[in-house]
Amino acid sequence: MSNGTDLELVPSLPTWRAKWLRVKILAIFLRALVLAQAVAGLRAEVTFSRDIRPLLERHCVACHRPGEVAPFSLLRYEDAAGRSRMLAEVVRGRRMPPWKAVPAAVRFHGARRLTDREIGLFSAWDRAGAPKGGETNPIPEPGDAGWRLGPPDLTLKLPRPFPVPGGGPDLYQCFALPTDLPGDRYVRAADFRPGNRRLVHHALFFADSSGASRRLAGGAGNYPCFGLPGFLPSAGLGGWSPGNSAYEMPPGTGTRLGRGAMVVLQIHYHPSGRAEEDASELGLYFAASSPRQRLFDVALGSREIDIPPGAVNHRVTDHFTLPVDVWAWEAIPHAHYVARAVRAVAEMPGRRPLVLLEIRDWDFNWQERYRFAEPLRLPAGTRLRMEWTYDNSAANARNPNSPPKRVLWGPGTADEMAGLHVQVTPVQEADAAELAEALWGKFMRTVGGGFPGRAPE
Ligand code: HEC
Repeated sequence: MSNGTDLELVPSLPTWRAKWLRVKILAIFLRALVLAQAVAGLRAEVTFSRDIRPLLERHCVACHRPGEVAPFSLLRYEDAAGRSRMLAEVVRGRRMPPWKAVPAAVRFHGARRLTDREIGLFSAWDRAGAPKGGETNPIPEPGDAGWRLGPPDLTLKLPRPFPVPGGGPDLYQCFALPTDLPGDRYVRAADFRPGNRRLVHHALFFADSSGASRRLAGGAGNYPCFGLPGFLPSAGLGGWSPGNSAYEMPPGTGTRLGRGAMVVLQIHYHPSGRAEEDASELGLYFAASSPRQRLFDVALGSREIDIPPGAVNHRVTDHFTLPVDVWAWEAIPHAHYVARAVRAVAEMPGRRPLVLLEIRDWDFNWQERYRFAEPLRLPAGTRLRMEWTYDNSAANARNPNSPPKRVLWGPGTADEMAGLHVQVTPVQEADAAELAEALWGKFMRTVGGGFPGRAPE
């Protein structure tokens, strides 16, 4: 040894080597363990009690239980075993659970989506002949939810039970409910209790400060309203579908309900096979003080829709450039039956385009508000762009016209729309006026003097 430094290093080397060897052995051992488990997993039969029951409980029974909107229950082994092939098929095709957004960079709150592994379990279980794997209790029914945010500040009920015939097409009915508030209130949250879960497929809520909904509803208090509510709402107040959580507005925001304001409940009814009634309720929760900031609706859309019969890839686009920095909270697509796909993209200056929402198999019956798991910060200069694609051929099974006909913009079942709403709040509250002005300009250009949502026929 020639110097002190080496002398110090040499004795430490073997310990270091020994440590490294120990780590290495441990790693090999762990890897072997993982492999052995994987092999065992492959060999072990996929059973109802171990593998399928938890999946049904987590992803299916919110809708598939007695008294719910889905056509059959999946609470018991027998319910699922008799349909194992069908279950495997619908999950493989991602028809169930219903969730239309294609996975992308942006994650959504409450996404109903199975992993590839979970889909594989349904297939493996079916192939194995739907084994039970020991005794198992039926899945407990989720308790009748009650008001999930506690007692509402204001409960609005249908004035009288609404009759839904046993069969025929789905119904879209709007109920104009007076709030009779003594003064201004700001809604911070809304929750919905379906009166008859067998009938209520989904519901959307709107504020109306113009009184237009009252006129549309007339003495009956309700009117048919396929698609949009038939007037220009002063704001959206959220929506409900089975298994969804209650609607809560972004912190610091609130939707104003003034004196004389109406709230409109738009309910999608799915006939259950026998004539029944529904008496749903909406619960509203008010903010303790007036909101710190405004929630803005960036309404992308176009009324220039003219789709020739037979067209399979007809596109309708729109865009809006944000004048200020914003937080984006939610994307809400809207179109009818000829629409097949929608894509919303944020093109931020100097960045790669960010897909906010993409749906490739649009289904009018699964209207959803796609709330981002985290709000997205979009800088000034971001171009929000949307593109709808329509299939007006006979190959589109949902085409309302057979043979296909020319389709124009309009509110009816056989008309089309192209809407994509992005709900945003300005990052700096001082920017609100500038954003409002830009949005107003866009709105006036879009409607060209008229107002969207002419009265339904
Ligand atoms: C949000 C409610 C909801 C959830 C969650 C849900 N379903 Fe459904 N399901 C329905 C409704 C409603 C129907 C009736 C057809 C329709 O309206 O699309 C249906 C129909 C079905 C059908 C019949 C398919 C057909 O073509 O008629 C199967 C099979 C099915 N669901 C399986 C599942 C499975 C498996 C899960 C969980 C992995 C699941 N569903 C989750 C609401 C739901």
